[in-house]
Amino acid sequence: MDQVLKLRSIAFGAVLVLVAGCTALPPAAAPGATPGIRPVPANTAPLPVDATGTAAPSPALSNPASSSPASSSPASSSPASSSPATPGSPSAAATPTAAPSAAATSTADATPPKDTRSGRQLDQPYVVNGIVVVSKKHPISKRYQRKHPGKYGLEKEVAAALAELTAAAKQDGVKVLVRSGYRSYAEQDKILKRKIVEYGSEKMARRYNAEPGKSEHQTGLAVDLWDGVTWGLGVRNTKVGKWLWKHAREYGFILRYPPGKEKITGYAYEPWHFRYIGVEDSLTFNPNSKLTLEEYLGIG
Ligand code: DAL
Ligand code: ZN
Repeated sequence: MDQVLKLRSIAFGAVLVLVAGCTALPPAAAPGATPGIRPVPANTAPLPVDATGTAAPSPALSNPASSSPASSSPASSSPASSSPATPGSPSAAATPTAAPSAAATSTADATPPKDTRSGRQLDQPYVVNGIVVVSKKHPISKRYQRKHPGKYGLEKEVAAALAELTAAAKQDGVKVLVRSGYRSYAEQDKILKRKIVEYGSEKMARRYNAEPGKSEHQTGLAVDLWDGVTWGLGVRNTKVGKWLWKHAREYGFILRYPPGKEKITGYAYEPWHFRYIGVEDSLTFNPNSKLTLEEYLGIG
């Protein structure tokens, strides 16, 4: 690992954590701020804690990835796809889950706002504590606009963080490739329709593929990552999958659909789908955390 690069990321994260604190709702977005990324607040944050109830260790510690349950899937033939080519059975994907600790929700607002948007209000996303939430329960319209589209169609800040992540992974001997970045409403519509045909089961397809308007990919804040060879649930056993679940948090990303949390997130375990929320928040997730964004924000 390039110590300079890593230290720079750590220093950035440490500064953010040091100055972090609670913000009023809705967050006052700075002009030109990237949507879905909490603006840096002024006060001191509580000790970062996640679902395990233990303080998140320093991101400086870069150890070999831990092993995951053995399973693999064949590579997909569809690079634009958001779905596993051959997802495992639901029971194979599920693993025991930890209950969210009180501390985990202490970083969220005591009373998250209700999502009362309708009609043209859906052009703007549901935001909790400065973090955009797009899900089955919290859709956006086809008119949703990214603020600063960059590489892969991701918000520029997200693309920059991803570049740091991939560089750090490379230093650890892990080659991270982007399989899918931004996807428009129309693209998402096509993908879901195609997957329903491929799976031969609408129910199954919807476990892995969002309806248009309900995909984080439409925001430019989420990205699907892999090694270019193994797709589907097999990603969890690849060097890339293991490295990401452990280290993505150091660069502002979280595993958005952890195992065993489908009832909360609305989607099955996706070891490839990472969501950028910024290091101030991502560092409160432990390495290999199964905490969901919904639990973290107190809306799960
Ligand atoms: N695979 C995720 C759920 C999406 O389609 O956005
Ligand atoms: Zn995805």
